[in-house]
Parts: sequence; C-alpha cells; structure tokens
Amino acid sequence: MTDREPLTEEDLAGIETLPKVELHLHIEGAAPPDFIRGLAQEKSVNLSGVFRPDGAYAFRDFGHFLQVYEAATSVLKTPEDYARLTTAVLEQCADNDVIYAETFLSPDFCGGGDLGAWRDYLAAIQDAATRAEAQMGVTLRGIVTCVRHFGPDRARAAARCAAETAGDWLVGFGMAGDENRGAQKDFAYSFDMAREAGLRLTSHAGEWRGPSEVRAALDDLRVERIGHGVRAFEDLALVDRLAEDGVVLEVCPGSNVALGVYGNLAKHPIDQLRQRGVTVTVSTDDPPFFHTSMRAEYLNLARTFDWRAEDFMEIARNAARAAFCDSATRDRILKTLEGS
Ligand code: ADE
Ligand code: ZN
Repeated sequence: MTDREPLTEEDLAGIETLPKVELHLHIEGAAPPDFIRGLAQEKSVNLSGVFRPDGAYAFRDFGHFLQVYEAATSVLKTPEDYARLTTAVLEQCADNDVIYAETFLSPDFCGGGDLGAWRDYLAAIQDAATRAEAQMGVTLRGIVTCVRHFGPDRARAAARCAAETAGDWLVGFGMAGDENRGAQKDFAYSFDMAREAGLRLTSHAGEWRGPSEVRAALDDLRVERIGHGVRAFEDLALVDRLAEDGVVLEVCPGSNVALGVYGNLAKHPIDQLRQRGVTVTVSTDDPPFFHTSMRAEYLNLARTFDWRAEDFMEIARNAARAAFCDSATRDRILKTLEGS
C-alpha cells in the first residue's frame, strides 16, 4: 500500500459513474425478477420456487442457481420475449454507464438448437439492440454459449447456429454451465467449428474448479479469454503464463462472492492477479441474481482494494481491447473512454 490520501466520497462518486465496458453478461441472467414474474403471469407459467418472499431470485448454491436460472428462462418463449429482455438489459447497462457490452446467448434457450428458430431469435435481439443503441448509446454484441451440462452433442448444434450466423454482431463462441460436469476437450469440435467460422473464443473455467480447468480451456479449446479464471491464482506458474500470453480474464467479483467461491471480496484474488500482470476485466455475470450492478462492482472494488479512477480506466481500456467486436467499433469505444 502506498501512503496516498484515502478515497473520499467525491472520489467514489466519480468512480461509480465512470464509463464501463462489460464482457461477461448472460442475457437471461440479467433479467430483472419483475420482468420474469411479469412474463410468467402473461403466459400463466408457474414459477414456484424461483423467487424468495421478498421477490428476489431464490437459490442455495451453484447447482441450485443453475436450476433456478433455467426455470426463470423457461418463460422466455418467443423472439419477441428476447427482444423485450434485450431492451430491459440495455436499460440497466445505460443506467450503469456501460458504453459497450457483450452478452452470452444460448441457442439451447433460443429455439432449442434449431437453426431456423435461432435465426429468428437472433434477428429480434439484434433489432432491439440496434434500437437501444440509438436511444441509449450502449453498443451490444453477442457471444453464443453452449451449456456444459447439456453435453457435447447439444454444444455442436449451438456451435453450428453460431457458425452460420457469425458476423459483425455475433462475434464470439463460448461455454457456460456446470464446470464440475464433463471435460472441456469433449467440446473441442464445437470450438474448432466456431473458430473456423471466424468467431473469437472464451470459456467459463476456474470458477468452480482449479488451475487444471483453466489450462484445459487454453490447451484443449484454445480460447483467448477465460470466463472467471480466478482460481488460476492457486498456481502461480499458470498466473505467469496468463500474464505472459496476455490471456484476458472476465472476472465477476460479485458473482464469485454471492455464489460462495470466496467468503468476501477482500479474499478475492482480482487485485493480486492484476498485480502479477494478468489482464483482468470486471463484469457482473447475472446481476439481479447476485444483487449487483456494474456501479456496485466498481464501488466495492474501490473500497476493498483502494483502486482509483486510473485503475478503473485502465481496466475499461483493457476490456475494450479484448472485446470481440470489429476494430472500427473497438477504436470508437476506446476513443469514447479517452474522451471521458
Ligand atoms: N450461467 C450463468 N451464470 C453462470 C456462472 N456463473 N457460471 C456458469 N454458468 C453460468
Ligand atoms: Zn458467467
């Protein structure tokens, strides 16, 4: 620690409202509980067990979180539902000063892996994103994710959907879901298909399992970014490799604390990873599930690790550089960051 002046309330207010770049955001996981409750009522879907008495999402642990997530997602039945969700999510991004976000989309949830249906969902989401960009100034891009616990066959269908719709808007492919199930190498075929279609790659790893999973993401799937990746910190040789190779971690500190990966933010390795030269970025993962937002993440990180506005600006620049969008869009985002 240096002997610099302590952060003031004014400093914190400035940090909270800095422009932000968010790379790790699941679209269904960003659905406000009221939005899901409203759709469930419209469609007469019974969502018992999904909400706590106070209205928040109810879950006990990671396995239960995934079940509740999928139950809540079951009310999203049409492309129009996803268009409405996209608008709601981008309103939250705008409220948090996010200027660019990448969101995870799953053909498993959007049309059950059928390519024709997926095209309809994607078109609706993209239209909503274009309208929101004009109104709110947030740029969104999509990353298709397969779901690890749905297995490699369904992942191939998701990868095919991704490969067929790859372009300026659909820019990446990745994997979410239960890291404790299956092996990443079983998904290599899907990642190869996506890479050949020009998509950029990321995979959730090192959230629940340790350094070997992060290595598998790098060696078996050949990803350039890692979703979470924080448990790499348990192996300093791996940390050095991440730093030397410029692998970008999509770190979601509030998610990790809410799900119990770390007991509290002070025990989270994000600051130490950064000090050892790893490129870390900051995201919310599934913000209403974890009672977080980008503004809350920034405030909590500033208070816990004494990070200053310069630290957050560097993180946002690194996130923009690691974004999967085309270079003209990236340059525009970097320029907006510079001008702030
Ligand atoms: N899907 C949504 N959130 C997730 C998380 N934190 N880990 C794995 N899969 C997810
Ligand atoms: Zn995630």
